[in-house]
Amino acid sequence: MDGWVDIHCHALPGVDDGAADIETSLAMLRNAAEEGLQQVVLTPHYQANHEPDQLRLHEQVFAELVSAVAAAGLPISLHLGVEVGFRFGLERVAMDPAARLAGGSHVLVDLPPGPLSPGLEQAFFALRTAGWRPILAHPERHRELARNPERIQRLYDQDLLLQVNAGSLVGQFGRRAMATAQLLIERGWADFVSSDGHDLTKRPMSVRVASERLVALVGSARTYQLLVENPTCVMSGEQIEPYRPVPSRRGSGFGQWIQRRLASFAAPEDEG
Ligand SMILES: [Fe+2]
Repeated sequence: MDGWVDIHCHALPGVDDGAADIETSLAMLRNAAEEGLQQVVLTPHYQANHEPDQLRLHEQVFAELVSAVAAAGLPISLHLGVEVGFRFGLERVAMDPAARLAGGSHVLVDLPPGPLSPGLEQAFFALRTAGWRPILAHPERHRELARNPERIQRLYDQDLLLQVNAGSLVGQFGRRAMATAQLLIERGWADFVSSDGHDLTKRPMSVRVASERLVALVGSARTYQLLVENPTCVMSGEQIEPYRPVPSRRGSGFGQWIQRRLASFAAPEDEG
């Protein structure tokens, strides 16, 4: 299985803690293409209180990278977006197309570490009411959310789309993030699995190993949905079909095992 679509990575050079320069970007994208990634949305970190020129800088650097990728003959399509830090009033920030994924209607939102805002659901409701479709980036990596899957369910029940990191599924961010990522997959709450790649070695743009884990967990059809179909909808603007898992004896047993594992993690060692 390939033709994967990555909606979250930091390969835009020189604008955040991802690729430092265009040579690193090209190397990351070459590896990604060799892995089977066909389309990528570049999502540098963006704090909405940044100077307004930041998004224009992204567009300028993006145009240079697209030219460089074409000159290098890499078989990968690039789109632009951001991973925007949560704040109230994101519906106004999202009016700029460069603050949305591929200029469509989806907005990738990252929560700050620390206590969750009690107004979280209300803020996302305002974003959706304004016509945008929020995607929560890697909830399994947020310490408070990872300890409270019920809170994740509240967000899921309010039609928030959830993106899980490929690395979380293979233990890159610790046991708690791994167990929560598997729980999100198992319960059918996850809508996307993405690389969140930052570099060539420590956090590469890699989904292959996670895809094998996904196939083992939920089968190839659902894996295809998470790595190809749903992310493609971000580009095409099509509605993402809600997933309703069919309960199975193995599935429910595995879910209970994950729940027990989550309950057993007392030390706050996993966030990073
Ligand atoms: Fe990210």
